[in-house]
Amino acid sequence: MSRERIAVLTSGGDAAGMNAAIRAVVRSALERTWTIVGVERGYAGLIDGAFRELTDRDVGGIIHRGGTFLGSARCPEFETEAGRKRALEQLAAAAIDALVVIGGNGSQAGANALAVAGFPVAGIASTIDNDLRGCDISLGVDTALGIALEAIDRLKVTASSHRRAFVIETMGRECGFLALMAGIAGGAEAIVIPEAPASVDEVAAVVRAAYGRGKSHAIVVVAEGVEGGGVALADGLRQRHEELGFDLRVTTLGHVQRGGAPGPFDRILGSRCGVAVVEALARGEHGFLIGMQGAELRQTPLAEVAVGPRPLDPSPIEIARVLAR
Ligand code: F6P
Repeated sequence: MSRERIAVLTSGGDAAGMNAAIRAVVRSALERTWTIVGVERGYAGLIDGAFRELTDRDVGGIIHRGGTFLGSARCPEFETEAGRKRALEQLAAAAIDALVVIGGNGSQAGANALAVAGFPVAGIASTIDNDLRGCDISLGVDTALGIALEAIDRLKVTASSHRRAFVIETMGRECGFLALMAGIAGGAEAIVIPEAPASVDEVAAVVRAAYGRGKSHAIVVVAEGVEGGGVALADGLRQRHEELGFDLRVTTLGHVQRGGAPGPFDRILGSRCGVAVVEALARGEHGFLIGMQGAELRQTPLAEVAVGPRPLDPSPIEIARVLAR
């Protein structure tokens, strides 16, 4: 069964590459002579009926831009039955045949709720946290990692100049992926993630040992999901200042990791996912999340995705430990 009038929305935290995905959904739908409707501000706009038809030109000049030109939102109202009912009414009133949801865990749980209610939905995996089931690397991760890495490289220069230690906190919600990978790529002396927590004493010992081996800097990368985050860890380390003998600073990278121009990987991934999702809808398929598994795009039923975030294998932390000699 073909879909002739589809809608697309971006939801949750913005991620670099969302615009590439919207552009690909819009242009591949138009290629099939379908009508494509953009929903503003995610599920909030779905509830409000903030819809507008999109043309080829509407998505011109956006592939290189970060964020999402449709806007995004966190929408507690959509988590209520009344909110979802209102959204379904808006979809029916606008005669929408299927909806494409570009977003992370909360967004795909919302997509699953619509699917359970009988509406045809397809998801595109997009979150810098990289914690979606059915997806090895989601839209926005590669760019966010690049930003975190650039920050680490810069901070390392200052750390070396001043013989300081730096605690650097990455985003990632409850998932340590960004911290783990940025830490390995940035040559961190220590990485602390929820999946492999470390006490202040353990981190202090690692940093002291690094200085003992003649290093002029020590970089500790911490995931925001660790209790207390980077600030608590830095406070704990400062309390041991006398015994440690090094000066310390803390930097929280925060939302800086979400903005910025998408790199080539996220532009290509967004484009591929957008095209693939429209092809699948044209084949009459729906109720799935499309995400990258290995080098392939694969579909996972939304019901499996909605079970909750994908657990992270923390074992690569050992790479960082061995290489921080
Ligand atoms: O899910 C993406 C993310 O950036 C998380 O890493 C972070 O914890 C959260 O969103 C921040 O949310 P908000 O932008 O609503 O403050």
